[in-house]
Amino acid sequence: MVDNPHLLVAGETGSGKSVALRSILTTLIRHCGDNLELYCADLKRSEFHVFRGIAREVVTDVDGLERIVLRLQREMRKRGDLLDAEEVAHVDDLPADKRPPYIVLAIDEVALLKREKDVMAAVEDVSTIGRALGVFLILSMQRPDVGVLEGRLKNNLTVRMAFRHSDAINSRITIGSDEAAAIMERDKGRMVLKLNGCEFVQGAHLTLPAARELLKDYKIDNANVNVINNIHNINNDDVIELEVL
Ligand SMILES: Nc1ncnc2c1ncn2[C@@H]1O[C@H](COP(=O)(O)OP(=O)(O)O)[C@@H](O)[C@H]1O
Ligand SMILES: [Mg+2]
Repeated sequence: MVDNPHLLVAGETGSGKSVALRSILTTLIRHCGDNLELYCADLKRSEFHVFRGIAREVVTDVDGLERIVLRLQREMRKRGDLLDAEEVAHVDDLPADKRPPYIVLAIDEVALLKREKDVMAAVEDVSTIGRALGVFLILSMQRPDVGVLEGRLKNNLTVRMAFRHSDAINSRITIGSDEAAAIMERDKGRMVLKLNGCEFVQGAHLTLPAARELLKDYKIDNANVNVINNIHNINNDDVIELEVL
């Protein structure tokens, strides 16, 4: 994602979008470890529970996502100031002790947000300035038409995964060519990957139990999450308890 930031995943219902998100995020978590701060938004409430205790936040409503984008806006300002102070153009060029983790914001079924103008404007900000700051987007939706994605945001989603599209017009909306309409309904997980040109690719079928197994060592259990969340308001008695923990 550092080389090819901001991913758009599109395709009709049942074509493989959520499975693709699951395998991408699982891969990123295992590849980046502590160097990744993940935020997941899933307004369908069906997909991202597997990342609870690993992602910084997993939200299932608009309020939760609003909180995340506000936090990202603050963080991006801070990172911008840091780049300025260190006189470098990209977070990767910062000295190791000042280099912040990469941030990924993944939103499944973005169309459910189409009336949330403020949230979408903040997401567009990430797409415009996030690259140099190490803040990246992964957005999924059935069809990225103008009713859902404004032109500027869509243009900034440089990598595209087009799973089955119902017809050539819809395919063109996603990848600028007809190819994703040629994918058969039975070809679950098959996509046109637009990276350097377009190519047909079969996505990995990472099932939920398999993802759980791959992620089990990365999960912080709930008790520890609470301790970490409360770390700002501890008193001395708590410190003793923390040491015991
Ligand atoms: N890469 C894949 N290989 C094989 N089967 C897949 C793959 N991706 C998805 N499927 C199958 O298709 C079903 C629907 O996939 P899903 O990702 O939920 O679709 P969408 O999110 O686009 O509605 C999955 O439950 C799975 O059975
Ligand atoms: Mg889905």
